[in-house]
Amino acid sequence: MRLIAHRGASGHAPENTLAAFRLALEMGASAIELDVHQTRDGELAVLHDWDLRRTGRGLPKGHPARSWARLRRIRVADLTFRDLSAADVGSWFAPRFSGERIPRLEDVLKLAAGRAELHVELKKGSRLYPCIEARVVDLLRRFDALKWAVVSSFDHPALFTARSLEPRLRLGYLLGMTRMKRALAEAAELRAESLNISLRQATAKRVGLARSMGLKVLVYTVNKASDLPRLEKLGVDGVFSNHPDLGRPLR
Ligand code: G3P
Ligand code: MG
Repeated sequence: MRLIAHRGASGHAPENTLAAFRLALEMGASAIELDVHQTRDGELAVLHDWDLRRTGRGLPKGHPARSWARLRRIRVADLTFRDLSAADVGSWFAPRFSGERIPRLEDVLKLAAGRAELHVELKKGSRLYPCIEARVVDLLRRFDALKWAVVSSFDHPALFTARSLEPRLRLGYLLGMTRMKRALAEAAELRAESLNISLRQATAKRVGLARSMGLKVLVYTVNKASDLPRLEKLGVDGVFSNHPDLGRPLR
């Protein structure tokens, strides 16, 4: 089973920061997952949530942005990358990470190139974030990353848009609330390589069905080593974990 560092080594460093991605690599991760939103000015920003309420802890002294109390509530879609990336997204996790900033997808591609497979989860497609699929595809082409990056999403129309832009793109279909019958049909149409499901959704029936259709099955978020034997037995191909050292030796 493959271990994919979920939001980087997010059990040990603030999620979706360069600190978490560097640490994942240092801990030996061969694959990393991250989440992508798009700012008002079209930058691809790496963070999980829709705003800064959970992981943001203020702006540097003298920053010209309006008050922090207001900024932290504004949706990423309505912020410029300059304002979004001024926020401290490290100190909520531990004081020693204070000053960590939200990276751009480009920054993570630079870091991971030649070192790890990257699972790029689009939090929403172009219905909310205009042209996000095209921006991601362009960036992956620019970094020659079509072989070592996989685009996934719960937003399935975004996957169809991405596929229409690039036939070589590797895709992961996040099941979410979609029924299996429909998911398997869409995954086949998309030529997705994996079905990505939650730990609760990881039953013998689902895993067996997906694998019989030629899909890999990836399970999130697996943070207890004691879950691994069952998943291995079911034939799961990989797990997303906040702990890159979970249950060593994994690949
Ligand atoms: O891509 C797997 C997993 O990251 C999906 O859930 O909410 O952690 O992005 P979430
Ligand atoms: Mg994710």
